[in-house]
Amino acid sequence: MKQTINPAMNRYRRQFLRRVLSTAALGLVSGAAMPTRLLAGTTSGTVQAGGLAGLFAGDFKLGTALSNTTLLAQNPDTEALVAREFSAITAENAMKWEEIHPQAETWDWQRADHFVDFGQRHKMYTIGHTLVWHSQMPESVFVDQHGRLRPAAEVQKTMEDHIATLTDRYHGKIQAWDVVNEAVTDSGEWRKSHWYNTLGEGYFARAFHLAREADANAELLYNDYSMHLPAKRDFALEQITRFRRKGMPVDGVGMQAHVHLDDPALAELEASIEAIAAAGLDVHITELDVDVLPKAYDYMGAEISTNFEYSDELNPFPEALPQKVADELAFRYESLFKLFLKHRDKIRRVSLWGTTDGESWKNDWPVVGRTNYPLIFDREGQPKQAYYSVAGLKSGTQRG
Ligand code: G3I
Repeated sequence: MKQTINPAMNRYRRQFLRRVLSTAALGLVSGAAMPTRLLAGTTSGTVQAGGLAGLFAGDFKLGTALSNTTLLAQNPDTEALVAREFSAITAENAMKWEEIHPQAETWDWQRADHFVDFGQRHKMYTIGHTLVWHSQMPESVFVDQHGRLRPAAEVQKTMEDHIATLTDRYHGKIQAWDVVNEAVTDSGEWRKSHWYNTLGEGYFARAFHLAREADANAELLYNDYSMHLPAKRDFALEQITRFRRKGMPVDGVGMQAHVHLDDPALAELEASIEAIAAAGLDVHITELDVDVLPKAYDYMGAEISTNFEYSDELNPFPEALPQKVADELAFRYESLFKLFLKHRDKIRRVSLWGTTDGESWKNDWPVVGRTNYPLIFDREGQPKQAYYSVAGLKSGTQRG
């Protein structure tokens, strides 16, 4: 039988060493013994009664995203797990425009109602995701039945009605809204979405004003991926600051944090945490996950229009995650949470994007049909080594 050496494995080794060096340089961990300790320990531990969120209660809220599968009660075990381990929830898909408001006069509240009810029952910090986004939009919002672009006044009215209806229904039950999602390109300019093309940059501030008019108390957030990129971060903060001076209500910025084992460097994330806080805004880590699979190309972030063809080489761990990569994942999570703890005064919340590996969007993006391991609970809902490495930062269960 022909044997092949998986070049990804050597790459992981190189990347791991690079990460160790960059983390040590940041002062987050110290000493040459560090990697050995991390690789040797934290494969198991004790799950505290208050879950992970209980351990971090004095630092920031700890959240997860609820998938439609969970919300439709096809997986009640996941609900129980979420209630035990987390203090914040985001609707992964249930409140997106095309799901909740698929046609002008049609609203589908089932999943979103269940989501909000779950948050109420468990007294969780509940995040509405998302009011204005370029993606998952019914085309009819922008284009009429003759294929012509609708006039600005009509689109603006639609936006106003959508925000008012959604925020009214859940008034007092949603603690934070992702008001605008992904409005800025990676190179630092406005995304040329239908929103922007029809309404100009004013749509951005208008959305925040509408959200505040509807709910005086909810925290209002701008949420985007790859916010570690200086050009993107700086442009976003410049616009937010400029609008804010003119009265736009905004409380925080969400760094989605769809990261890889080696990428971005902690220092890049840290610079953005500091920049957001320096602009007078709360930092929310909104969609954390760690991709452990080979990059199909040089991708980063979450541009969901991107997709690449499946190959077995791009899916090296279809059965189980090798111990070496599990070590690296645990180390990455531990390093990230050390960074978050270092900046606990700036960070309001850290949310993972999903609860168990099996339900993660990373199994299907940017390549459909892979087996990824980006979260801290495995496909059976059991805590992974990564869970214990994070918990160990607070409970002293880390061994080595
Ligand atoms: O709703 C249909 C359903 O009717 C149909 O049966 C099913 C069959 O494939 O598809 C369903 O829609 C899917 C939806 O998830 C709900 O499962 C879409 O095809 C699929 O594209 C969608 O993916 C979501 C993606 O956003 C696009 O909305 C992912 O689950 C979700 O994790 C991802 O989340 C985004 C954040 O909202 C914003 N930041 C980036 C992040 C990752 O892309």
